[in-house]
Amino acid sequence: MSGVYFHIPFCKQLCSYCDFHKNISLTAKNEMLSCLKKELEQRHNYLPDRNISTIYFGGGTPSVYQPEEIQELIDATANYFSFSEDIEITMEANPDDLTSDYLQKLQQTAVNRLSMGIQSLHADDLKLMNRRHSDKEAVTAIKNAQKYGFDNISIDLIYGVPGLTISKWEENLNRIFELSIQHISAYHLMIEPGTVFYQKVARGKLSEVEEELSIQQFKLLIDKAKENGFEHYEVSNFCKKGMYSKHNTAYWQQKPYLGIGPAAHSYNLHEREWNISNNKKYMQGITTRVACSEKEQLSTSDKFNDYVLTALRTKWGLNLKRVEKEFGEKQYAHCLKMAEKHIKNNNIRIENDTLILTDKGVFVSNDIMADFFWV
Ligand SMILES: C[S@@+](CC[C@H](N)C(=O)[O-])C[C@H]1O[C@@H](n2cnc3c(N)ncnc32)[C@H](O)[C@@H]1O
Ligand code: SF4
Repeated sequence: MSGVYFHIPFCKQLCSYCDFHKNISLTAKNEMLSCLKKELEQRHNYLPDRNISTIYFGGGTPSVYQPEEIQELIDATANYFSFSEDIEITMEANPDDLTSDYLQKLQQTAVNRLSMGIQSLHADDLKLMNRRHSDKEAVTAIKNAQKYGFDNISIDLIYGVPGLTISKWEENLNRIFELSIQHISAYHLMIEPGTVFYQKVARGKLSEVEEELSIQQFKLLIDKAKENGFEHYEVSNFCKKGMYSKHNTAYWQQKPYLGIGPAAHSYNLHEREWNISNNKKYMQGITTRVACSEKEQLSTSDKFNDYVLTALRTKWGLNLKRVEKEFGEKQYAHCLKMAEKHIKNNNIRIENDTLILTDKGVFVSNDIMADFFWV
């Protein structure tokens, strides 16, 4: 089970919190499209299999491209890979790009899952985050996507945002759960270096929220998701029965993927490779066939840490038999030792040789994972 990721490195406006790689000038859009196809031609042999189960258009903002252009990338992928019958093809989209016309055309493509960045449904939060859409536009985009036949819709929300009170967060969740969507990714705000929020915090113009409020918001999210029939299957991800993000789940299960585009990462079971985070240099590199990426061979410890860090975040947990088989006795004993106190504190439960975070453990998942880390 392999996947292909396309990084679309353009945005029409910069959100105050976001450090994902993107340019706000769209002038190189056409040239970039042809470079993405060229890179696919140059690097398709990177993946161990010829069959793929997922394609993911992330960014940046994939919806800066017209549906026909997204389909061109899907067709280019089909030149090198066969597609699983139930292939999941996700496109991240910003609500303000999703006009009725755009959605109708997108429905004609092979994209079968939409991931929309909604973040909040309050005007003041959207303004603070420098989003391009209003709450009404966001809700209309979701409803229109459903009207035009999209039945696998994920939305992104952010909590722990300065000014987001518990009642505002509750209102966001109530409005979102009324919308019959299939999946939610909800992230705690991270103040990343290089962002507007980071500068504001450094200058004392913005204060990070109290930890207690963040925890309250996370708890409310978990409770509301449960009430509304959503399964909490990864620390930040919730879905209706069986509607997991197949693409992200494959990352968490160490399946190989090929990343195309500037800043895209790839993994083929033995090494990680990442493309340069600069549109111009990326396009030069692809056109002249001069390397524009770096790679690292993964040691057994790297692979162990990757497995622990991702597996513990999911409802499928960390399988001790797999640890013993793939990483050896020492790492197996290490996991048992590290799990001991967390099992006692009811942060981890053990089930069929698998360590799984309890509802209580989810709140301290980062601390638990740090304990398991092998240095
Ligand atoms: C790469 S963005 C792409 C989505 C799309 N461009 C949009 O904005 O709608 C994916 C998601 O990551 C989340 N995100 C990005 N930066 C974040 C940060 N600093 N803290 C928390 N969540 C963040 C947002 O929820 C965002 O929708
Ligand atoms: S959140 Fe999305 S739209 Fe905003 S800057 Fe990041 S990638 Fe671009």
